[in-house]
Amino acid sequence: MIKLKKISGNPYVNKKEGNTLIDTILVNDILRNSTTPLMIFLENRIRDNINSFCRVFKSVFKNFQCFYSFKANFLPEICKIIQSEGIGAELIGLPELNLALKLQFPPKKIIVGGPYLPHDLIEKCIKENIKEIIVYNLNDLIQINSIAKNYHKIQNICIRINSQKFGSKLGIVLDKSKLIKLTNLVKECENIRLTTILSHYSTQMNNFGQFKKNIESLIENIKILSDAGINVENINLGGGFPEAVIMPETQLREIANNIYSVLSNSEFNFKNIYFEPGRYFIGDAGIFLAKIIKVSEDRWIFLDIGNHICPKFARCSLRFYNASKINEPHKFKTSIAGIVPTDQDVLAKNYFFTKDLKENDIVMVTNVGAYTLTFSNRFPYTLPKIILVKNRTITEIFDPLRNYDFSLI
Ligand SMILES: Cc1ncc(COP(=O)(O)O)c(C=O)c1O
Repeated sequence: MIKLKKISGNPYVNKKEGNTLIDTILVNDILRNSTTPLMIFLENRIRDNINSFCRVFKSVFKNFQCFYSFKANFLPEICKIIQSEGIGAELIGLPELNLALKLQFPPKKIIVGGPYLPHDLIEKCIKENIKEIIVYNLNDLIQINSIAKNYHKIQNICIRINSQKFGSKLGIVLDKSKLIKLTNLVKECENIRLTTILSHYSTQMNNFGQFKKNIESLIENIKILSDAGINVENINLGGGFPEAVIMPETQLREIANNIYSVLSNSEFNFKNIYFEPGRYFIGDAGIFLAKIIKVSEDRWIFLDIGNHICPKFARCSLRFYNASKINEPHKFKTSIAGIVPTDQDVLAKNYFFTKDLKENDIVMVTNVGAYTLTFSNRFPYTLPKIILVKNRTITEIFDPLRNYDFSLI
């Protein structure tokens, strides 16, 4: 029996006799049919992450519902895997809604909303009987009500409150004037029903303190609403969990238990609790294979990917490995630059890497599954090919020469 050694804490990325194994395929075998840069998704890891998340939250909350935040990664093949696990969808725009419906997410498992709700998006939500529209701006309620009236329907609404994280501008601050406005709108608008309140706090939240602040702010707002005679049924705590390798199941369970106790200590009884994870499902299921294209002074290496496809904005827990020398100690400080011709394209500074640095060495970058494609930009380089790996099977899910662009239309 050959011993495997986990890389990056990921059970689907291993060392095997000096080689790197992705699921059950050697990196060298993957690169026989593809060149770098290459993006790889691990189907089994996505499924495992979904199962861990649901196992934990279902066991803690009997009334738990889960909606995958499409913006984390909206590749149709990825969303299809998530749909097949019975998860719902959290969407921000019409292109995502069209995709979710095409992939047969049931409308009763779709929630849609954000800071920008154009008429055609609201109309489609109402026509398709979407579970909830999430509103960040009270004025949107007027438009939703009027479209719902035209269709003789009553639309369920969730309001996103501003979680008051320092500097946050998203969502509604329920001050006196907004509260009066909301109370009047709820009375006047007969074709909407305020059912849910959402507070999404931040990203990469790896300690309970941040979740606690979010819940406290939510409870405070529920009280404000209740004093004004508005009673919501459901709470939505948003997403914000880190990659599953960063928060393994035991730690996730601790967070879930703590959320449960803070909520139980408030006197508020809610019907359902929703979460909208994005990164937790998909973050550590994505890998880049890149190549060193130049080794320069002071241990700087340049890769054939950069911030256009692996952007800082994505806030990934990036890890770098020399896949060509995977058995060598990674303990020599190395700085890693990207391909974009600006000195600002730095992927990592003083990262522990192999002593030997050679052009054409293959560099594996892990934890790149969430938000990299979303925040990528159209710096005019060819996009990488994207493959999906499951056991011994490789499926090409994006080829820039065939598909041109992975954006939704
Ligand atoms: C309202 C809302 N819900 C869910 C998410 C998903 O967050 P994450 O991928 O950090 O779980 C986001 C991300 O920005 C968000 O804004």
